[in-house]
Amino acid sequence: MPGELVCFREACRKRFAITDLIYACPTCGSLLEARYELGILDAAALRRLWRERRLSPDSLDQSGVWRFREMLPFLEDYSGVVSLREGNTPLLQAPAAAAYGGLEALAFKHQGYNPSGSFKDNGMTAGVAQARRLGMGTVACVSTGNTSASMAAYAAAAGLKAVIFIPHGNIAYGKLAQALEYGAITFQVEANFDQILALVRELAGREGIYLLNSINPFRIEGQKTIVIEMLEQRGWRAPDWIVLPGGNLGNTSAFGKALRELRQVGLIDRLPRLAVIQAEGAAPFQDLYRRGPGAGLREVAHPETLATAIKIGAPVSWPKALAEVEASAGVVESVTEQEIADAKAVIGRCGIGCEPASAATLAGIRKLAAAGVMGRDADVVAVLTGHLLKDPDYIYRYHTSQLDDPGGRRLASTFGNQPVVVPNDADRIAQLLRQR
Ligand code: F0G
Repeated sequence: MPGELVCFREACRKRFAITDLIYACPTCGSLLEARYELGILDAAALRRLWRERRLSPDSLDQSGVWRFREMLPFLEDYSGVVSLREGNTPLLQAPAAAAYGGLEALAFKHQGYNPSGSFKDNGMTAGVAQARRLGMGTVACVSTGNTSASMAAYAAAAGLKAVIFIPHGNIAYGKLAQALEYGAITFQVEANFDQILALVRELAGREGIYLLNSINPFRIEGQKTIVIEMLEQRGWRAPDWIVLPGGNLGNTSAFGKALRELRQVGLIDRLPRLAVIQAEGAAPFQDLYRRGPGAGLREVAHPETLATAIKIGAPVSWPKALAEVEASAGVVESVTEQEIADAKAVIGRCGIGCEPASAATLAGIRKLAAAGVMGRDADVVAVLTGHLLKDPDYIYRYHTSQLDDPGGRRLASTFGNQPVVVPNDADRIAQLLRQR
């Protein structure tokens, strides 16, 4: 049951072999999606099998992606899979964040616990497996940082050559440092993410390089397991809402597809609503949602946000993401730089922490709860997409009142925690401690 690639556009729906080297429909240019005969699967048997695999020492079973391989059966065999024990991320209760957001309870599914520190690892192990199956020797991506860090890690582990393209001066140092350390050839291009993606698509075709951006349908297959694992952790009880940040919208597409397929197999009986949160200065998807059915995407030519991970003005996966938001009766919201910064500090105070883009979730929840869209007693899971240490510069600036928004306006350090310089003097320090 290796499946096939199908054009996502309803009016086309052309079908292709799962091994065709294509990233878009050759007939109409639309996005592609992997399809399988999932209807034959037995939900009860799957639940048991997946639970049993937790006891297995096999690296495939220990992976939080390949443990669920029946839901992404695009490979004939698993000999080419490289796992770094991705997935297996926790679901963390965060009462202080819930209170800040205006909810009675809130759980974070923290994808920052992945081997390279972001949710990209779930998709990358799948995309790299497909690259190896196709016999590709070089992989490439354009990235706001996390995709490149993840691709560099998996390519190194798989013995593939990795080439990454990043917008010059616009990525967090933690992410750039990872790519360098994992040995990827790194090009810093003087253009924005959207412009570079067009460049890389051209180069991939010309140079025989395998493209591992989220237009790659196999990465989407891997990212489905974020939601599968979340639901397993919840005993297959669907929450009311799943909240996630939206950039290029690959993850929104993956979550929606996973939920539809889980329902088809009978693992869940209803679809949670998706709430996609964008940064106000890079919110073309929110604009599209607001303008209603039938509208086309208006690209943001110069996207701006300090949450560099989601600084994207022309998200490629918007048609899929829109269909998934609609199928789930979901919503799309945008939040300001100040709202992101404060929400991030609150997540930190829970002992959890995340990178700026991830904190858009809590900022969005606060806004949606205040507007009455999300009930106080709603059962909500927010996905934190990247680790706190991805962007330490942002954190230091926030806590020391030096964080400026992209327009140069100083953000308030609402929950700031300034380090204190003290003399080497126990009496003086004791006195300061008593004051605080
Ligand atoms: N959160 C983080 C931490 C990200 O790195 C990204 C995307 C997103 C959210 C948005 O996810 O694109 O699927 O909607 N980062 C990409 C990258 C674009 O290149 O690393 P999306």
